[in-house]
Amino acid sequence: MKVLKRRLGKTSELVTEVGLGTWRMGGGPRPDLSRDRECVDAIRYAIQLGMTHIDTAEMYGGGHSEELVGEAIRDLPRDEVFVATKVWPTNLRYDQVLRSCEMSLRRLGLKYVDLYMIHWPSDEVPLRESMRALERLYKDGKIRHIGVSNFSVELLEEARSCLSVTDVVANQVEYNLLNRSIEVDLLPHCMRQGITVTAYSPLAQGRVLREVERGSKLGRELTRVAAKYGVTPAQVALNWVIHHENVITIPKAVSRRHLEENAGASGWQLDERDYRALCDASAP
Ligand SMILES: NC(=O)c1ccc[n+]([C@@H]2O[C@H](COP(=O)([O-])OP(=O)(O)OC[C@H]3O[C@@H](n4cnc5c(N)ncnc54)[C@H](OP(=O)(O)O)[C@@H]3O)[C@@H](O)[C@H]2O)c1
Repeated sequence: MKVLKRRLGKTSELVTEVGLGTWRMGGGPRPDLSRDRECVDAIRYAIQLGMTHIDTAEMYGGGHSEELVGEAIRDLPRDEVFVATKVWPTNLRYDQVLRSCEMSLRRLGLKYVDLYMIHWPSDEVPLRESMRALERLYKDGKIRHIGVSNFSVELLEEARSCLSVTDVVANQVEYNLLNRSIEVDLLPHCMRQGITVTAYSPLAQGRVLREVERGSKLGRELTRVAAKYGVTPAQVALNWVIHHENVITIPKAVSRRHLEENAGASGWQLDERDYRALCDASAP
């Protein structure tokens, strides 16, 4: 079993098409230390399975998620893991971005992060100011790539226009069989522009698999396709998300079984008929 990599944006950087999300590892909006051991083990196991793209954020567990990622990767060669983190919208003033990044690096125990993203756009801080800070961090070698999250086509283009020495490489947005709204304009736009779409909540936090239990039209289709390819419905659902070349995904999993299953969603492809059949079954 090998987790394949794809190009990040138009760069020569390769990132795994299936990575690991860490929302709710180390707490929700506030720290929760009760499952630390399990979470660190899960992050290590994900990397062992080849899911080396680890996604976190300063907001997750009030910073504790980053600490857990830091602990999990402490003894690994730096280039064996691709660490992505995000700055929260209340910290988007120039100096705040620099400070947030510094704090994230400290919690992660790293000298640089591979991808630094604006978590959500802000109505209060001019985007130019935040992007200027991101570019400063880029020039200083604290971040290797700049990304955004939850940005519309218009905002994404505005963000790109604020940069002078590099480009936005990725936009992290929700994408799964139950939420296909990015297909209207964001996904085709990113495909044309060579920007990676990092699909979050690829299983809609488990709701996609509840369709299988319910025996809905989508659930029945997931079961049929899974049997045809000798995989599981979760693997079909994840593989459907990464069908387009510029899409990668970061399912969150703590359970070893889930981690193994998710790694196995990489390295093969749904044929066009089955891909379409799933699209038809998931149409609202
Ligand atoms: N940028 C943003 O605004 C934003 C928003 C939301 C999420 N994200 C990122 O995207 C990541 C993933 O999204 P998410 O956590 O919202 O939802 P998700 O990945 O769609 O779902 C996670 C849930 O599904 C379960 N699961 C994982 N693999 C499974 C499998 N093979 N079979 C059955 N259940 C499985 C997990 O259980 P266990 O943990 O028990 O294994 C967990 O309860 C987040 O962790 C975060 O890094 C970003």
